[in-house]
Amino acid sequence: MIIQNAKDKAFLEESEMRFRQFLLGVAAATLALAVNAQQPIVIKFSHVVAVDTPKGKAAEFFAAKAAELTKGRVKVEVYPNSQLYKDKEELEALQLGAVQMLAPALSKFGPLGVKEFEVFDLPYILDGYDDLHKVTLGPVGHQLLAKLEPKGIKGLAYWDNGFKSFSANRPLHTPADFKGLKMRIQSSKVLEEEIRALGGLPQVMAFSEVYNALMTGVVDGTENPISNFYTQKMHEVQKHLSVTNHGYLGYAVIVNKKFWEGLPADIRGQLESAMEQATRYANQIAQVENDQALEAVRKSGKTVIYVPTKDEKAALRKALLPVHQKVEGRIGKDVIQAVYKEVGFKAN
Ligand code: LMR
Repeated sequence: MIIQNAKDKAFLEESEMRFRQFLLGVAAATLALAVNAQQPIVIKFSHVVAVDTPKGKAAEFFAAKAAELTKGRVKVEVYPNSQLYKDKEELEALQLGAVQMLAPALSKFGPLGVKEFEVFDLPYILDGYDDLHKVTLGPVGHQLLAKLEPKGIKGLAYWDNGFKSFSANRPLHTPADFKGLKMRIQSSKVLEEEIRALGGLPQVMAFSEVYNALMTGVVDGTENPISNFYTQKMHEVQKHLSVTNHGYLGYAVIVNKKFWEGLPADIRGQLESAMEQATRYANQIAQVENDQALEAVRKSGKTVIYVPTKDEKAALRKALLPVHQKVEGRIGKDVIQAVYKEVGFKAN
């Protein structure tokens, strides 16, 4: 272009300026894309127990595996010990997308409207880990997880913890020993019926509040696998522990469905592999962790550990089995029957 006058010159200068601005814009956008490409996808994984428990360890394992398999494209931030949310709040946070992953106890899905999970709370329905795995690794477990989807939640896996024992400040040998005791339970109607069947008074309470409630006498006793009992230092505030194994407590690992399905397919696949490995790990360590916790409680010398006799066990079982029928309408007869069939359950 031949510059003929001042008007042409001004036009040329303005065009150059615009072009420079355009180039700057392109550079900034490219930089932003590059930065974004390097920013890992963050998965906040909130839970309520100590790090040194089956769930706490499995969560850490998953975080490490996820980083390894995605080559750092995913960062799993684990928040243990109700640091971020208590039991009920964490489920709300997951649905709102404030956290992406949780592993609540199976007893905690009732308030969400998925009452079928309370089948796991039925006293004596599972006779050990082999029975448990028939359910969690089989079609029934799969169908139960699918029931979470309409709630915006995707169930990825079941992680084991263990079988529960009762504790209090008095010996608990027979059903009569529970009479009038305020017993802390998780938010499950089946557990409410369980405590009532023993003549106790069920008190639903968040896990993070149990130690204080036991210490101050707000509640008299509780039930939990020993790994939870020990790592929450309940042995410091409970004089008696009865190794009753009367029911099971374990977890479903769940994610916000929208978040999960919005992940790039390759990343989701890598995370699924990490979850498979973490699940194997969780289920390998659960029993060992609980056995070691029982030993640690014994060594502490603060709690008397009692193993009920055959007759005492039979009396507890007799008192607790009617709960199955009582809650049939809530859980669904079909679900209970499906679990009975899977594990070959017999009432006698
Ligand atoms: C409880 O509230 O007792 C348990 O669900 C805690 C847990 O997550 O193991």
